[in-house]
Amino acid sequence: MDALKAIMERRSCRVYQDRPVPEETIETLLKAGMVAPSAMNSQPWEFLVMQDPDKKAATSALVTYWSMLKKAPLGILIMANLSGYRASHTEFFIQDCALCAGNILLAAQAMGLGGVYLGLYPKQDIMKKVRAIYDIPEHIIPFAILSIGYPERPMPPHNTFPQHKVHRDVY
Ligand SMILES: Cc1cc2nc3c(=O)[nH]c(=O)nc-3n(C[C@H](O)[C@H](O)[C@H](O)COP(=O)(O)O)c2cc1C
Repeated sequence: MDALKAIMERRSCRVYQDRPVPEETIETLLKAGMVAPSAMNSQPWEFLVMQDPDKKAATSALVTYWSMLKKAPLGILIMANLSGYRASHTEFFIQDCALCAGNILLAAQAMGLGGVYLGLYPKQDIMKKVRAIYDIPEHIIPFAILSIGYPERPMPPHNTFPQHKVHRDVY
């Protein structure tokens, strides 16, 4: 599947087949995240591969909208390590990690997987609970979770182009 097709056809996938994601596929997903652009090439991301059913279930139970994670064969927690930034640039970790997450979701789509972004940062109370489940140290920021698996059924592409959102040369 080419990149443009993956971009155009990606939808959030919340129901998965009972089928594991092979290790080499997981590695490709992580590599896709690692090649995302980042401010001054800081590459702040670290990853926690979530496969343990009990920990995944505990995480899923933290937020009503995270229920799909329990049955997902794979979760990828994207975390930020700010140690590589200049002090004046640390806030760029938000864009950097979001781009990293986008890359992984598109790579998943391109490989026949489906995924959904589960928002975590900046919800400090939930971040604290996720830290506790996975023993994440204080200097690492849990940023977002991607719930990933083979889709149970295809979702129709958006295929929209709202003209009113496009401004040319003047607002
Ligand atoms: C910051 C952010 C947080 C999100 N959090 C959740 C979530 O907690 N649960 C969920 O099911 N989807 C979540 N989503 C997915 C959105 O609901 C989804 O992308 C949106 O409805 C558009 O649908 P689509 O991805 O199929 O195009 C989140 C997406 C983003 C970007």
